[in-house]
Amino acid sequence: THVVTEQCIRCRYTDCVDVCPVDCFRAGPNFLVIDPDECIDCAVCIPECPVNAIVAEEDVPADQTAYIALNAELAKSWPSITRSEDPLADHKQWANVPDKLKYLER
Ligand code: F3S
Repeated sequence: THVVTEQCIRCRYTDCVDVCPVDCFRAGPNFLVIDPDECIDCAVCIPECPVNAIVAEEDVPADQTAYIALNAELAKSWPSITRSEDPLADHKQWANVPDKLKYLER
């Protein structure tokens, strides 16, 4: 599967969802996740993300492996998103901030 990692938090650009052929993205208040039961590993979403938040599971950085389980967990309760929306208002400010897990809203 592919995994949305912390760069997405508080940015939520949503460019990724427009290209997904299986509609596997799920939307939370300030973060998106990929449903691992739906993702077919096509990888077309990877270059769409302006902050490079999406990676293949095997490429998840060592300090972000928690996002693998987090995507699976949150995908069970968050609704599907299939069309891009405006990014969050402060997206520029948060685009390159590290350690954003504490800001994740559920
Ligand atoms: Fe998040 Fe990037 Fe998609 S910021 S919503 S993974 S385009």
